[in-house]
Amino acid sequence: MTAIIRVAVIHGPNLDLLGARDPEHYGAPTLDQVNRLIGDSAAQLEIEVRISQHNDEGALVEALHDAAGWAQAVVINPAAFTHYSIAVRDALQATGLPAVEVHLSNIHAREAFRRHSVTAPVCRGQICGLGPIGYVLALHAVKALVEGQA
Ligand code: DQA
Repeated sequence: MTAIIRVAVIHGPNLDLLGARDPEHYGAPTLDQVNRLIGDSAAQLEIEVRISQHNDEGALVEALHDAAGWAQAVVINPAAFTHYSIAVRDALQATGLPAVEVHLSNIHAREAFRRHSVTAPVCRGQICGLGPIGYVLALHAVKALVEGQA
C-alpha cells in the first residue's frame, strides 16, 4: 500500500471570480467546482490536499511558508503574480518542495506580458491551456515526483 502524500494547492488572485470572470479564457466552472474536482481527484490518488486562494501577495507568500512546514509538494496557479512577483517566486523556491505551476488558459497564446513566468523556473514543470484538468494532471505529476517516479 502506498503512503498518503500531502499537497498544498494554492490559487492566486482573482481566481475566486472563476465562472464569472472572462469565461472565454477561464471557462464556466466556479472555483468551488474546480476545488471539488481537485478534492475528488486527490482522494482517488491517495493525496491529502489543503486548498487555498489568495488575492493578497503577502497572504500567498504566507501560504507558501505554511506549505513548507506541512506539504510534500505544491501545485500553484499564481495567476497574475506569475508574471511579476519575485516575492512569490522566492517563497516558492524557499519551500524546497517540488512544485508544478498550473494555468487554466494557454498563457503562451495570449498577450505578450502573459508569456513570461517568473515562477516557472523554480517549478519542476508547467501545465497550461487545459482548463481545470490541468490541476488533476498536476496532482498526478507531484505524486510521481514525491514517489521518485518522475
Ligand atoms: C491564469 C493566467 C494569468 O495570466 C492570469 O493573470 C490569471 C489566470 C490562468 O489560470 O490562465 O489570473 O493564471
